[in-house]
Amino acid sequence: MTQLIWRDGLPYSETYDDIYHARAGAYAQAEAVFISGNDIIARAQALGPGDEFQILETGFGLGSNFLQTCLAWSHSTQARLCFTSIEKHPLASSDYQQAHQLFPHQDLLNSLLEKLDLRLTDTLIHLNSQLSLRYLHADVLWALSKISSGSIDVLYLDGFAPSKNPHMWSLPVCQELFRVAKPQASLATWCVASLVRQNLSEAGFVVQKVAGFADKKEMLTGIKP
Ligand SMILES: C[S@@+](CC[C@H](N)C(=O)[O-])C[C@H]1O[C@@H](n2cnc3c(N)ncnc32)[C@H](O)[C@@H]1O
Repeated sequence: MTQLIWRDGLPYSETYDDIYHARAGAYAQAEAVFISGNDIIARAQALGPGDEFQILETGFGLGSNFLQTCLAWSHSTQARLCFTSIEKHPLASSDYQQAHQLFPHQDLLNSLLEKLDLRLTDTLIHLNSQLSLRYLHADVLWALSKISSGSIDVLYLDGFAPSKNPHMWSLPVCQELFRVAKPQASLATWCVASLVRQNLSEAGFVVQKVAGFADKKEMLTGIKP
């Protein structure tokens, strides 16, 4: 279990010397970078009640992207959302509760915390009939090897800055992300570092810089052609 530190009001990792989300806010970042960057609302609205949609995230962290995506999803469609997230350093329940005190659907958070079993490396949690989380408690590369090829619609890339955590953005990780993505799968991240763009492109994704969020001039979106 990793010890979460609050520094200047922001959740901070001593292991990686980095913050978990932008100062402008975890939910605002989730909306602007990951949900809008992957056009989740329009894609959700195009699905029917029997359909299923797969999102994969590198770095579950505090689960802010997951929770905010669940909200956006349940307001937009009756289709099922299967969210897979990978996390090597889980946090304590009290950290999630502290970070999400203002989250409007405490029932979702409580259900998540009740069902999350960190003794397992691979847990499938059904939050309700529409929303599920597959939580892979492992290093990113090992966890990716457990995901079926061509199964993922959307990738959220959120693994601390590459200068602090290069492994999360390495070419082998990008190649695995490409393998698990469906054709036409999209990706988004706040990170525009040239090495990340280079590794994603070398793996086969077509990436582009687009307007960024809050104090970031640019962010990255991409597609598996
Ligand atoms: C920026 S935080 C993610 C924030 C998160 N997406 C959220 O919505 O709260 C990055 C996360 O990546 C995790 N991480 C770092 N290196 C990893 C690795 N090699 N494998 C799996 N997870 C890793 C960290 O422990 C951290 O929780």
